[in-house]
Amino acid sequence: MDLLKINFGSGTFPLPGWVNVDSDPACNPDVLADLGAFPLPFPDRCARYLHSEDFFDQLPLDKAFEFLRECHRILAPGGVMRLLTPDLHRLADLYVRGDPELMRLWTSYVGLPLRTGSLCEIMNLAMSLGGHTFLWDAPTLTQALAECGFEARAVRSGESAEEALRGIDLRSPENSVSMFFDCYRV
Ligand SMILES: C[S@@+](CC[C@H](N)C(=O)[O-])C[C@H]1O[C@@H](n2cnc3c(N)ncnc32)[C@H](O)[C@@H]1O
Repeated sequence: MDLLKINFGSGTFPLPGWVNVDSDPACNPDVLADLGAFPLPFPDRCARYLHSEDFFDQLPLDKAFEFLRECHRILAPGGVMRLLTPDLHRLADLYVRGDPELMRLWTSYVGLPLRTGSLCEIMNLAMSLGGHTFLWDAPTLTQALAECGFEARAVRSGESAEEALRGIDLRSPENSVSMFFDCYRV
């Protein structure tokens, strides 16, 4: 059997050639599934690559750990998972320093009107908007990944040692506060 490439939380941006999974029927995913209900509907070791962009932060903390363990189960030995999620440290740092970059990112890429026009409001909204449940920072995410059987390597947007994982990111440091990891199954 050919190993799969699975994109979790694909939303309205399905990846061609990947099995796109989402719980929203309006997105017309290849597999309609609740990724917060376990076990996930895939057999052991069926995938060579996993990808998930801006979905992981929607899972409550206990489910996030379970999701990572399931990703480990689904990945074949030698498999790699690309994980993009907002970086709480970058977001908080922009806020604490009063950096106008935070306003630029909001205005250009989120665009929701602000009642107060303040970075305080942006910070509050960024923590909860779009279903955000738990925002991670790099050390906490790296530790969680290690607990679940992954070695996390920080990578640049769009880049990867794995050809299949290059150029698939929607987000970059110029249009988001995302962090980017290639997670190797140990
Ligand atoms: C912010 S969108 C990200 C979509 C796309 N990956 C992107 O980067 O733009 C988050 C997606 O996760 C999906 N999602 C949220 N909770 C989910 C769950 N429990 N199971 C499956 N999909 C879920 C939503 O339906 C939505 O399409």
